[in-house]
Amino acid sequence: MVIAAYVALPLIDKLTLRWFTRDISARGALVANALHDSTIDALASRDAHRLALLFDRTAQDERVFGIGLCSSDDLFARSSAFPAALSCADARQTAGKENPRVTLPGGAVLVTRHSLVAAETSVIEAEPASEMILLHDLSFIERRSLDTRRYLIAFLAALGFVVAIISMFVAQISWRGWIAGARALLRGEVGPAGPMPAELAPLADDLRSRLRQLEDEYRRARGPEAGWTPERLRGLLHAELRGDEIIVVSNREPYIHDLDQHGGARVRRPASGLVTAIEPVMRACSGTWIAHGSGTADRDVVDLHDRVAVPPDQPMYSLRRIWLTPEEEQGYYYGFANEGLWPLCHVAHVRPVFRESDWQTYRAVNQRFAEAVLREARTDDPVVLVQDYHLALVPALVREKLPQATILTFWHIPWPNPESFGICPWRREILLGLLGSTILGFHTKFHCKNFLETVDRFIEARIEHEHSVVAVAERETFVESYPISIEWPQPLEGDWASPSDCRRLVIERHGLPEHAIIGLGVDRFDYTKGIVERLNAVERMLEKYPSLIGRFVFVQVASPTRSSLDEYRAFQQQVERLSVRINSRFGAGRYQPVVFLAEHHDHAQLIELYRAADICVVTSLHDGMNLVCKEYVASRDDEQGVLVLSRFAGAAREMHEALIINPYHVEETADAIYRAARMSSGEQRERMISLRHTVRDFNVFRWAGRMLSDAARWRLRARVEERVRKHGLPEFGGR
Ligand code: G6P
Repeated sequence: MVIAAYVALPLIDKLTLRWFTRDISARGALVANALHDSTIDALASRDAHRLALLFDRTAQDERVFGIGLCSSDDLFARSSAFPAALSCADARQTAGKENPRVTLPGGAVLVTRHSLVAAETSVIEAEPASEMILLHDLSFIERRSLDTRRYLIAFLAALGFVVAIISMFVAQISWRGWIAGARALLRGEVGPAGPMPAELAPLADDLRSRLRQLEDEYRRARGPEAGWTPERLRGLLHAELRGDEIIVVSNREPYIHDLDQHGGARVRRPASGLVTAIEPVMRACSGTWIAHGSGTADRDVVDLHDRVAVPPDQPMYSLRRIWLTPEEEQGYYYGFANEGLWPLCHVAHVRPVFRESDWQTYRAVNQRFAEAVLREARTDDPVVLVQDYHLALVPALVREKLPQATILTFWHIPWPNPESFGICPWRREILLGLLGSTILGFHTKFHCKNFLETVDRFIEARIEHEHSVVAVAERETFVESYPISIEWPQPLEGDWASPSDCRRLVIERHGLPEHAIIGLGVDRFDYTKGIVERLNAVERMLEKYPSLIGRFVFVQVASPTRSSLDEYRAFQQQVERLSVRINSRFGAGRYQPVVFLAEHHDHAQLIELYRAADICVVTSLHDGMNLVCKEYVASRDDEQGVLVLSRFAGAAREMHEALIINPYHVEETADAIYRAARMSSGEQRERMISLRHTVRDFNVFRWAGRMLSDAARWRLRARVEERVRKHGLPEFGGR
């Protein structure tokens, strides 16, 4: 404002002076005109005295300083203020200048000259040329200019003040918003899983990398905390659980024996996140795994007690199979678990179906699993790891018979909010069943919170929110989040073909263009995985960025699952139709943009695909964790490849360096895939290194280790309490 005033004031002065000069000249002409006739008359009669009187009267006007009449070069008459010393020649000369001013003792005056031209018969025609000289007082201009300056300065000061107030107000608001945004960023509420405010975007990466650095420093400082391995997990079992027996119970078995064409048994590893995570833990811990024997040759390979040692090529633990009739499988597995609880817990907009008969079968089958646990247990306090929504009643059933057992239940899928869960007609029974657990684990804190709120809503229980403990009839359950993961390093890592060989093999096998940019999706063929949304995004990307037509190929692996359910069959048909449509729209000759592989792939085949793919796309509409994204990262020891990850998968809370998307937003997903396709190798490396650190440090041994050491803590506490209950508190200095 000061600079503006400094520049503007002289300009305004100049401007006003020019305007006033123009006005005064016009006014001078007016005065001269008014006096014209009287002056000519007086001049004709050579009456200088009369003229002087006339001029004095006129000069009373405050702006006229003096009037003089020059006849030829003589000052013939003048008003009294007109200086006698100002000769006609000087006055004429001054009036002709651009800035016609003279300074008199009374101040500056402006000089104007006006010719007197007589009418036809004028006497002065014969006279030498006569002119009236007017001296205009300029002091009023200075006064006005001073006023203008004052007003202008006052105006600029007021304006400056108002602008300052507004700026401070706006700055305050944006500062608060910025601080709130930065806090949300630090708490992990924006960015990967939420909208990123534009003003924070440039800072987000710096902040995250700083946080990661701090995290690394912290981990390094904690020393032995880093690096969870099978050996370390075994060490923990020996040290803290003193070699106690471990029993895992789940619906899905880790190895399925199917009949091959020759009537022999062929082993298959199922596509299940649960199996991917628990199997390496079991290999490290030994023990017994109880599961439904669902393979066609399963009965052929078990012993008298329905047990088989696995892994088949290098046995490390025992798999105990439970046999279910087709009716039991229908009611318990397809019906209650997969038509009821699965859609209930996943917000994927498929209605849950609850049938009384399914519920009865579910209860009966849960009872069978619980009995198997009791039969397998060699002690009265085994550590039992109950897995997933198929077996929600098992914890309480086992607890009833083995009150000393340590029961760790892990819920592998999301837990919805109380309103959604309230749909289930047997919600109380499910909750009480789960609260038979010593520890109940979920993937995220958010799911724990939903669970605690559901308990609060539907059953009588004491909830200690600060300790995350629920107590029903004095039995306590600790509810905690344990983000699940995969094995690190991956089995047989040393035998993997190089990424370029994998790429060549995949290109040859599927007839892809030589320089194809390969996108990859690996899922069970399930409606929660967002496969339709993903293909829509691929279609939109090709539409929007046609330069990729002919180069970009999306390979979708979809392992058949639960296909006897209508919802799944309809979904699978919809996906197949969609991929045919995209291929007919953008395909040409041998080029097909979507390669759809709707069949089971074993681990080695998946590793080959992961290592060949430039981009891995995970678009789950809702997912507890999702381990495909972690497997992709683990397979990329070349530190290349881009992960596009749904914000609705639990993994998005850990894998910040992925391109995080909302799969319902086709445009956003299409743009992210395009960005991934164009990402420089340097950026890929930076992101991949960081992702690999996360998966390495937060591997499945850490997941199991955390749960088991929490279990050990609870066991110790329970034992001390039991001793105190039986023998009372030891006396001070006593026994
Ligand atoms: C999810 C569930 C697992 C299940 C897997 C495969 O990951 O959490 O419990 O095993 O899906 O489904 P399926 O029905 O084939 O066992």
